[in-house]
Amino acid sequence: MLRFKRPDLKKEKIATLVIPVCEDEDIHAHRSISAFVKKAKELEEFSGKKEDELLFYDFPGTNIRRIIFMGLGKKEKLEPEVLRVFAGKAVKYCIKKKLPDILIAAPSETKCGTDMRDILESLMEGACLGNHIYDAYKKEKKHSPLKEISLFVNAQTAGKYKDLPSRTEIICAGTVLAREWVSMPANDKIPEKFADSIAQQAEKAGLSVRILNEKELEKQHFGALLAVARGSNAAPRFLILRYRAEGAEKHLALVGKGVTFDSGGLNLKISGSMSGMKTDMAGAAAVAGAVIAAGKLKPSLNITGLIPLVENMPSGTATRPGDVIRSYDGKTVEIGNTDAEGRLILIDAIAYAIRNEKPDMLIDLATLTGACVVALGDKIAGVFSPDAQLSEAIIASGRKTHERCWPMPLPDDYKELLKSDIADTSNMSSSKWGGAITAALFLSSFVKDTRWAHIDIAGPASSEKGNAYCGPGGSGFGVRLLCHLMENI
Ligand code: BES
Ligand code: MG
Ligand code: ZN
Repeated sequence: MLRFKRPDLKKEKIATLVIPVCEDEDIHAHRSISAFVKKAKELEEFSGKKEDELLFYDFPGTNIRRIIFMGLGKKEKLEPEVLRVFAGKAVKYCIKKKLPDILIAAPSETKCGTDMRDILESLMEGACLGNHIYDAYKKEKKHSPLKEISLFVNAQTAGKYKDLPSRTEIICAGTVLAREWVSMPANDKIPEKFADSIAQQAEKAGLSVRILNEKELEKQHFGALLAVARGSNAAPRFLILRYRAEGAEKHLALVGKGVTFDSGGLNLKISGSMSGMKTDMAGAAAVAGAVIAAGKLKPSLNITGLIPLVENMPSGTATRPGDVIRSYDGKTVEIGNTDAEGRLILIDAIAYAIRNEKPDMLIDLATLTGACVVALGDKIAGVFSPDAQLSEAIIASGRKTHERCWPMPLPDDYKELLKSDIADTSNMSSSKWGGAITAALFLSSFVKDTRWAHIDIAGPASSEKGNAYCGPGGSGFGVRLLCHLMENI
């Protein structure tokens, strides 16, 4: 669906050509494209400012039915994200007009002063992700995605980056899987069903898959995970996805929080805060999407995805505030609040991963706290790690993919907020402040010596309104970041 193309602009029949334009400088090297831009800028209503749009039909001297010019603003502000947004908008425009395909004129490396790989990657990502429509539950499908997205580049560029279209498709497909899982209503993704859905995709990608059911989880003493699952009629699952690379020297474990619905349990959420809680499995979705992408990208390290899946519900069998449970690790936990359930399923997954998989590094992704959204808003994730190098690598991958992360502290002296009088620890802080930090500190005490980072994605995992290359609902946040990280760590 994504490809490079080089039609003759003067002769060949082209349905839709989209040209990005800067207001201050020409960013194109192809003479005809530059000439088209010059012509467009002769009109008063178009100068290439951000949001500027201009449409030409049957451009003279060509066989091009439509040329759409889209303003990018000033050249000095031309970051990869500007190109992602542009490409997403261009594709969405064509979808709305029911056009079947698009040809996007890629700007020139030298004229932009940006690395060509970055230019192409961001255009393709924005276009491919902008082409995703989530209409699984609509009877009438109002719009269809474009069948073909092409980038207009010269032959040398097409040759040099020939691996890029298929790579980008793989990463975007992983992102789209995660988006759809997050947007899926909770009644269709109870742990058993969600596990099967992930397993099906994982097997297609050549991964080895293991699913532990409730009986096995009991036998292996996943006490914290089972304590959360008890309140629901839906049985829990624990999913292990393995990607193995020949001659691998490193092993990365990825753990994703998979609460398929978080009602809060007996500490029931009030209705306003409960309404979005079908998305509380976004960490699981991101890990699954990324490991599935890894199966096709084939990075040179081993990756194991560990995904605890539960539904957090109130009932006569639900865990009570004040109960004490024994975690997989052996440590006991007093339940200060049944709504702090994510950290409970994560400590069992983390302890299992460390004991049985012995990874060199472990990263968990979780929609863990509302406090993290208060701190960083709904577009930036918090990164917590005692390992500066790992934390910096994650933040760098976040910068590259525009899945933004910000470093957060793990202060030793806050640990006393998690003390319990009767158990080894409490899942609830005694302070109402710093909730994202105390949640991360709770996890840290189950990690031991393994290199570890926790990413709180409660904010960016989903979005009510969506943006230029993501519709409303699940964002797939984390998949692109993890794909970049696994090839650069
Ligand atoms: N799933 C929530 C966190 C969350 C909140 C995600 C808002 C997305 C948006 C988590 O399980 C939770 O309920 N956390 C509590 C913890 C508290 C009880 C210590 C919270 O953040 O209020
Ligand atoms: Mg909760
Ligand atoms: Zn939760």
